[in-house]
Amino acid sequence: MLDTKDYTYRVSAAGRVNLIGEHVDYCGGKVMPCALGLKNTVYVRPNGTDLLNLAWTDLPDKVTLDLNNLRNYRTLKHAKYHAGCAAFWREAGHRVVGCDLLMDCTVPFGSGLSSSAAIEVSTIVALAVAAGEPYDPVEVALVAQRAEHEYAGVNCGIMDQFASANGRAGHAILLDCNTLAHEFIPVALGDCVLVIADCKKPHSLVGSKYNERRAEVETALGMLQKHLPGITCLADVKPYELEEYRKVLPPVIHRRAKHVVEECERVRLAAEAMRKGTMSKFGELLTASHRSLSALYEVTGRELDALAEAAQDHRGCLGSRMTGAGFGGCTVSLVRREEEEDFKAWVSERYHAKTGYTAEFYPAELADGITVEKL
Ligand code: GLA
Repeated sequence: MLDTKDYTYRVSAAGRVNLIGEHVDYCGGKVMPCALGLKNTVYVRPNGTDLLNLAWTDLPDKVTLDLNNLRNYRTLKHAKYHAGCAAFWREAGHRVVGCDLLMDCTVPFGSGLSSSAAIEVSTIVALAVAAGEPYDPVEVALVAQRAEHEYAGVNCGIMDQFASANGRAGHAILLDCNTLAHEFIPVALGDCVLVIADCKKPHSLVGSKYNERRAEVETALGMLQKHLPGITCLADVKPYELEEYRKVLPPVIHRRAKHVVEECERVRLAAEAMRKGTMSKFGELLTASHRSLSALYEVTGRELDALAEAAQDHRGCLGSRMTGAGFGGCTVSLVRREEEEDFKAWVSERYHAKTGYTAEFYPAELADGITVEKL
């Protein structure tokens, strides 16, 4: 039983599922993530010292961070996120006070549902409320992203931290990652539901492969800018322009860029389909996105392909794709409500037969990003 008495606030930030717009956030594209009911919760109380005392409900570790020494903690396994958040929140001009933080995370680690963004965002908000300061969720997301870059070594885009900080229950965020302009689209699925499935493949090297993809699309941008001087990011490139300059790109770089420009177009169509309630179209776009991530961007791998394909083959499934960075993690599928249980059994059986892994399903409750409660 969690002993949370004597804490002052309970602060939560959400994990996320991205509906569509994968590997385009760092190319200035639009994405469509939703905040989930899976959360990292921080119980916090100021302690009158210069220390952050960290404890976890599901880890035996206890870590103390000295606020005067935050640069020294980049190699810590779990606490590096908190150290980075405290360092950059303070650097952004905010007061950080010593406090005790007890973490309780229901976002499964390594599932591609952004447990790290949930940890970062909830930590920053906990530090803000402990210091009695207001916070702006967009600024929180940007500081959290910086912590991920500089303390976790993943050169991520803004999608995860933004969704974790700004999500709204029952909605997807249509976020322009170039300008951070965003709108909320009600997720009205008619007679369908979203099903999130974890391929459960233990994944390593996600960060290094992710950074490699980022470098490849930056190469593509640099090469294309010589011919299209007006573009500032790959999302500015139209599919026909990419084909026109196909020859100037090495084949692998062309494949990466093709995924990005076509995925941007799919997001536009998906937002339109969601607004109109055309679920068959939305589902087709999910499947097309997965195929592109598999064949052109090469971030799926055998397990995610097997999981998505088992889903796509079920009669009640309108579309299925990997969500998040890839190389393991989860798929999201659009499934007719009355077929949900049959779908799960079908996918589990086929996926296990093909890979030997047992898929796990998580509830796709679409919740608010941040919640703060005074205890
Ligand atoms: C990870 C990153 C995001 C985004 C996705 C892929 O989740 O943190 O910024 O790039 O991968 O869409």
